[in-house]
This record gives sequence, C-alpha cells and structure tokens, in this order.
Amino acid sequence: MKRIGILTGGGDAPGLNAVIRAVVKAGESTYNCQLIGIRHGFEGFLEENGVLALTNDLVADILPKGGTILGAANRGNPFARRVVRNGKETIEDVSNEVVERISELDLHALIVVGGDGTLGIARDLHNKGVPVVGVPKTIDNDVGGTEVTFGFDTALNIAMEALDRLRTTAESHHRVMLLEVMGRNAGFIALHAGVSGGADVILIPEVPFSMEPILKRIRAREAIGRHHSIIVVSEGAAPAGGEQIFSRAGDELSTARLGGVSYKVAGWLEENAQIETRVTVLGHIQRGGTPTSFDRWLASRYGAAALRMAAEGNFGQMLAYQCEQIVAVPLDKALQRPKRVDLQGDAMQTARELGIAFGD
Ligand code: F6P
Repeated sequence: MKRIGILTGGGDAPGLNAVIRAVVKAGESTYNCQLIGIRHGFEGFLEENGVLALTNDLVADILPKGGTILGAANRGNPFARRVVRNGKETIEDVSNEVVERISELDLHALIVVGGDGTLGIARDLHNKGVPVVGVPKTIDNDVGGTEVTFGFDTALNIAMEALDRLRTTAESHHRVMLLEVMGRNAGFIALHAGVSGGADVILIPEVPFSMEPILKRIRAREAIGRHHSIIVVSEGAAPAGGEQIFSRAGDELSTARLGGVSYKVAGWLEENAQIETRVTVLGHIQRGGTPTSFDRWLASRYGAAALRMAAEGNFGQMLAYQCEQIVAVPLDKALQRPKRVDLQGDAMQTARELGIAFGD
C-alpha cells in the first residue's frame, strides 16, 4: 500500500474539497493507497500535527462545501519562509526540511492543488526530487496550459447573480451601478460575468481604459431612454497611462492587494458628468460557498486523474482541461506564461458585437 500526500495552497476556491474527496475515494476504492493530508499548504510539513490520515469517513459529505478541510496558506512558501531565530525575524529557505519530511512520511507522490504561486513551489520541489502532481485551482482562471481552473465557474455565477440584483436598483433609481470583481491581472471573471449579466461596460486589466468612452456609452443609453447602466470592473483594471489601484502594499512575503479602482471610476462620473453612481465590491463572497455542478465535476475529474498520474509515476506535471479532456502538461510549461483574456478571441468579439464598451 502506497502513501500519497495532498495539500491545498494559496487562497481557497470552491471545489477544493471535491478534489480532496475524489483523491481519497479513488485511493481507497481503486488504487489501494493511503492518503495523507497536509494542513495549511506546505506549512503542514513544518508544523507539529501538520499531517493527518484522510479516510473515506473524513471526506463523506464535503462535496458541497466551500473552502478546504485541509486549510490553505498564502504565505507558506518553504523557499522563503518567515523564521524567528534568537528573537530576530529572517526570511529563510527551509525547502530542504520539507524534502526531508516528505521522505520521512514515505510519500510516493505529493498532489499539490493551487494557483500559479503554489504550483511554482511544487515545480521547485520537483526539481529537488519530490514526486509532484499539480492540480490547477483559482477563481481567476489565469493558470497557463489549461482552458479552465475549478473555482472559476462558481465565482462567475456569484458575480452574475450580483449583477442581476444590482440591476433592480439601477433600473428603479436611474443609477449607474458598478460591480468590482476579483481576478487579479486577468479579466476572465469580469468578462464572463459581465456578458452573462448584461453589463454595458466591462473594464479588464488587459484593456487600459479612458473615461470618455465609458461616458459615451452611458450617454448613448440615456439617449434611447435607458437611464441606468451597469459597469463591471475587474480589480486589476487600470486607466490608460495610469497604475493599478491597491488597497494594501505588498512585502517580501506577500503580493500587494488589489482593490478600489471602481471607486475612482464612480468618482469621476459623479464629479465630471453629475451621474449618480453606487459601488459594490464583491470581494471574497466570490470565493465562498458551495461549488457549482461544473466545478464539482471538474474538481472530481482532476482529483481522480491526479491519482492516475501518481499510479503511473508521471511526476512534474500539472493536470489541465483541454478540449473536454483532462491531460498532463509539464509544470514548467504551464507556468511559463499566465493566461490572460485573448483580445482577438471570440469572447471579446462577442462582447464588443453586443455593444459592450471596454473604455478603449
Ligand atoms: O487569486 C484569487 C484571489 O481571490 C484574487 O482574485 C484576489 O486578488 C486575491 O486572491 C485575494 O487574496 P486574499 O484572499 O489574500 O485577499
């Protein structure tokens, strides 16, 4: 009986528990292996009581639950970890301790579920000899090599529902309602939710925006008797020639926190065009709660495929969804370039043909 480890790193995303469940179920039913869960991302390797045996009983009923029963950690990079020595804080590379712990635990494979940051650590551990299988997760859908990550579908459905709800106030009060959504440097959530939710303007990081085209779209609607408009703003969108807006600066251990660009857009419209606006920042509501059927389906397929790969001894790979199949892509290749909205693709073309303005 082989021992296989699984951890979930980075921010949580709907579907993480579905991956864990699929791995445990396939492990017990098909591969006769013992599953070991590592808590709080890679941190669990360095913590007391940081690992636990995962059984069918433990994963019963977790399929519809958001979050991750293993916990996740944004700051858990063993190649640059905050360590306190003699009362002094330093950043150290403790990756060798992690490698030793993995061999002590006698793990035949380590399944790493995460976004590009976590998968980058997985790749670096693989380069140190750790038998790693990567599973792409993020609501942002920005991991290269795969058409879709689990978590994305749930997030954009939540964003779409928010737009439907904002529309009622927009219509009743003749207001411009802005919805700021997540996505970091990729505009997928804004674009997909915006089209599905009938937005009039969508601002995404891939298209620097100016205020005049946005105002023009609002005025054109007014001219045909529509005195309300809906604007979806991706947190990473930036004005042409300007900078992204952050709510908190980053440091050597964490990336800067995006947020607030929709307030700038709304402020400009109020001051320069006397348009009444309201801003809703959707925030972590997008990451919480029960996953959609698509995300459960995708996460379950990723989980089962991860065990298949481990059984085949196919390491250093990330699972990817391509043309409706789960395939393996070398981690190095997947991480070469993050995925961004294709400005020439049919999704953008569709949005533009529907008359949606992008501020360019
Ligand atoms: O990467 C997922 C994501 O939700 C981004 O869309 C967002 O910018 C970021 O994580 C928020 O991170 P945190 O939960 O650390 O605030």
